[in-house]
Amino acid sequence: MITFDLNGAQVQVPDESGSLLDALRDHLGVVSAKDGCAPQGQCGCCTVWVDDEPRVSCVTPIKRVSGRSVTTLEGLGPALPEWAAAFVACGATQCGFCTPGIVMRLEALRRRGTLLDPDAADRGLAAHLCRCTGWQTIGEAAACIATGTTPSLGDRDLNQAAIRATIEGGVPQVVGEQVVAGFVGFADDQVPDFGSSRSTVSTLVAMLDADGQWRTAPTVAETRVVIGAVQGRRTTVAVTPPLALPDGDWAVTLATSWVEPGYLEPDSSTAQPSGPPSSPVNNGGAFGAKSNSPLPAAAARLAAELSVPIRARWRREDVVRLGPKRPPMAIGLRADGTGVIRVVRTAGIADILAASAPELVIEEVEVPGPPTSVAIRAAGWAELAVVRAGLAATTTGSGNDSSTDPDSCVTVTDPCGGRASARVDSSSGSPVIHVEVWAGQVLDHVVLRSYCIGAAHQALGWVTSEGLCVDDDGTVLDLTIRSHGILKASETPGIVVEIHAEDGPSIRGSDAVFAAVAAAVWNHQGRPPSWPTGRSLGSPS
Ligand code: FES
Ligand code: FES
Repeated sequence: MITFDLNGAQVQVPDESGSLLDALRDHLGVVSAKDGCAPQGQCGCCTVWVDDEPRVSCVTPIKRVSGRSVTTLEGLGPALPEWAAAFVACGATQCGFCTPGIVMRLEALRRRGTLLDPDAADRGLAAHLCRCTGWQTIGEAAACIATGTTPSLGDRDLNQAAIRATIEGGVPQVVGEQVVAGFVGFADDQVPDFGSSRSTVSTLVAMLDADGQWRTAPTVAETRVVIGAVQGRRTTVAVTPPLALPDGDWAVTLATSWVEPGYLEPDSSTAQPSGPPSSPVNNGGAFGAKSNSPLPAAAARLAAELSVPIRARWRREDVVRLGPKRPPMAIGLRADGTGVIRVVRTAGIADILAASAPELVIEEVEVPGPPTSVAIRAAGWAELAVVRAGLAATTTGSGNDSSTDPDSCVTVTDPCGGRASARVDSSSGSPVIHVEVWAGQVLDHVVLRSYCIGAAHQALGWVTSEGLCVDDDGTVLDLTIRSHGILKASETPGIVVEIHAEDGPSIRGSDAVFAAVAAAVWNHQGRPPSWPTGRSLGSPS
């Protein structure tokens, strides 16, 4: 047995427990530390302290903590509610999956007195990924803690905030301090008959082997052995859009690549031998990517077949190989607005494109590669909005507002009615993205702003840095969470959001922000013909 101190109490776990993360979650029932990519050690969701130093627990062998002190979120004492209040006040958490690890990192910086040191914060947050928030609000929460200026909730109604979050996220969302603490019912945190120790319950963990067969064992560490898990790697091969346009008198062209949705909570579901399986979307919509997740059906089938509770889970590598991607496209527009769209064959995409652009010829092309889905955020119509804004900019400025200003606004309306405009402002030297949004009744300013900043961050990454390398046979070569090009905190420019309150019903605004920012950034960079452009926002065109 390995003995160590956990949050002030001595505990013991078997010395074959695997990693510290495995021991915490499967033997000690501490699920505030999350598994976003284990054992890649790249997302930071599993960050805890070992002897008061932040450590990525999924790559910390349990033997290494023998006789040492481990602190998790539960051991932060009065600091936890302080952080929870600051994160809720600033809208610094959405799905919340990354949040416990980030709080552990930031609290360590605070105790060292470096929370307001931008270099220390950048270095610390470089160990983390957050797909939802776009980082800025996390920095604001840290500033609140450092200066003791966390605002009170005032007259905010967190039920209204949750409704706004649900509209933006597309699935029921919780807003509140429990999200910061990591307790919002993530599927892999829920174990049927969960007791004081996961190793004492009869639940089996199910994971896919190399042949795509579900294999089971009592714990994640043991199941990893059973499936012969091989850690995914990244390639150095450049990302290349899979589709090209026919020759034509194109005024504007754009070819997009395979893009990983990049949600941090891998698909998982738990099921009893009878009864419905749990949902893989308990507090995050995964940008639409989990809408047809096969995990609930797999968990239910295995539980019925084996007559035991099942905890079915994808590893990060499974998410990348098997989860749906945004359909790659090649679009060419002539000066009169007519043109061609070639798109990787995807159920439903032709209807979306035809509804948005009846004047364009649509060609679906069979291309070997990962699955694609129209459920991914704004698939199809966002690409059309971008190229149309690009075409408008070839005759006016950089936007579609008829101005000749090189960084004029791009305004986009999504098919559900949400509207946003965006522009890049480089006048002060450091680019800043300005966003305006109209999304009906606001319900909660903090949450809507947070989702708009997150959408802007994701759009910027989509244009400039995100892509999956897929070979000619359709095999995904980039399997690590860091290889997808998601922008780090230090790579994210300032994002200013102006929200316009309207009288009508509340509608989603962040998808329009996503499309508008993508268009504004592309115009700002001089409309390179393929994405990712490989240029940061500050790079000259
Ligand atoms: S789960 Fe440990 S770094 Fe991602
Ligand atoms: S809130 Fe950070 S990944 Fe969702």
